[in-house]
Amino acid sequence: MTKYVIHGGKPLFGEISISGAKNAAVAIIPATLLVDGVCRIENIPQISDVTLILNILQDLGADVRTVNRTTVDIDCSHIHNSKVPEELARKIRASYYLIGALLSRFGSAEVPPPGGCDLGGRPIDQHIKGFVSMGADVDVKGGYIHAKAKGGRLTGTTVYMDIVSVGATMNIMLAATLAEGLTVIENAAKEPHIVDLANFLNSMGADIMGAGTDVIKIRGVERLGGGMYSIIPDQIEAGTYMAAVAAAGGEVLIKNVIPKHLECITAKLVEMGVDVEERDDAVLVRRTGKLTRTNVKTLPYPGFPTDMQPQIAAVLCLAQGTSVVTEGVWDNRYRYVDEFRRMGAQIQVDGKIAVIEGVEKLTGARLRACDLRAGAAMIITALAAQGTSEISNIHHIERGYEDIVRKLSGVGADIRVVITPDEEQSEATAG
Ligand code: EPZ
Repeated sequence: MTKYVIHGGKPLFGEISISGAKNAAVAIIPATLLVDGVCRIENIPQISDVTLILNILQDLGADVRTVNRTTVDIDCSHIHNSKVPEELARKIRASYYLIGALLSRFGSAEVPPPGGCDLGGRPIDQHIKGFVSMGADVDVKGGYIHAKAKGGRLTGTTVYMDIVSVGATMNIMLAATLAEGLTVIENAAKEPHIVDLANFLNSMGADIMGAGTDVIKIRGVERLGGGMYSIIPDQIEAGTYMAAVAAAGGEVLIKNVIPKHLECITAKLVEMGVDVEERDDAVLVRRTGKLTRTNVKTLPYPGFPTDMQPQIAAVLCLAQGTSVVTEGVWDNRYRYVDEFRRMGAQIQVDGKIAVIEGVEKLTGARLRACDLRAGAAMIITALAAQGTSEISNIHHIERGYEDIVRKLSGVGADIRVVITPDEEQSEATAG
């Protein structure tokens, strides 16, 4: 078993550079299916979710070439297969983007239901509603979602989202890009990765307007051609390191970010007594004094991101006073709370609300990452805690954080990857 061992209680000093955004990459890579030509994608994060989605494309017949550590060339021109392999697709939530992309390109798709973090119910009814209103027949049989456009090509229409959904907004954008006529998405999600997907598609020849607002208009085009595109920096990775500095103390320059995307996180940290100084493409985060309580409610962008909820809760465990966290997106995103309690945190959860009584100190413990962001939050509590913590199930964390051990070690954290004797005798220093 591989785990992280963290000796906590050391403030963090130095610089961390942020990688490309996971939730943009896992949509833009499937979007290359629409392109007739080579797409050079830069600033790709090296994380296991990206490897999986690239493997799925290769399995479908795409030519994927690594140019350097963060750049790949993807050519999907010669693909003729619209059936996605089950084993790979079930491991990743973003495999649902293959439905929209394959429907757009071939007029049909066969994709297994998506996997991903267990955050309570994760329906895709809004995605399906969009495809059906554009003229697709969609049904589930034999463990696969089968979608087929009547007449072989989807037709543009107006799709009203009953719920603001990141995935459904991007999936319908993909489906509409090569459809006949105009598609209007009303009550669309506005996250930075939605704008990034639209920018990618437009740079390849699509006609998409309004991404980043709640009405997106997509005029279908006949074909997209190849080109070059660089993925935006990861808002949540940056926010996670900001929270780590807030909890452990110290001063860290977080580089390669878009400060505007971090405003919702910055605002909360400032309320808690953390100094955040915005630069052009960096934020300087400093925490020297005590943390003070605040309340946080997660909402779709530009609200406070649900993907930062466990990490901000980790910081609030050490803030003076009582804080209330309200989860406004997912039904069950407090599965980490029992692990925090083992470190001495005082948290009560009732449905979507967590009440946190700040404590003077947390103490190291053995922890189990239950999903990606919960795992990241456990690293934050462990960095701030007195003594040693061990975090197992780290594959969840590696799905979404590139080189997290190296990046934290670079700012003075005492964190190592340890391979326990049941697999190997040696202890490996992470890098
Ligand atoms: C994306 O998931 C992200 N995943 C999630 O990040 C993130 O938590 C979420 O957006 C919200 O920001 C990826 O981008 C791969 P939604 P997604 O559709 O698209 C309900 C992480 O840690 N809903 O915006 O699946 C749904 O149940 C991950 O990086 C429906 O009811 O989320 C939820 O309550 C975890 N019907 C809400 O909408 C639908 O058809 C928002 O979900 C779709 C969603």
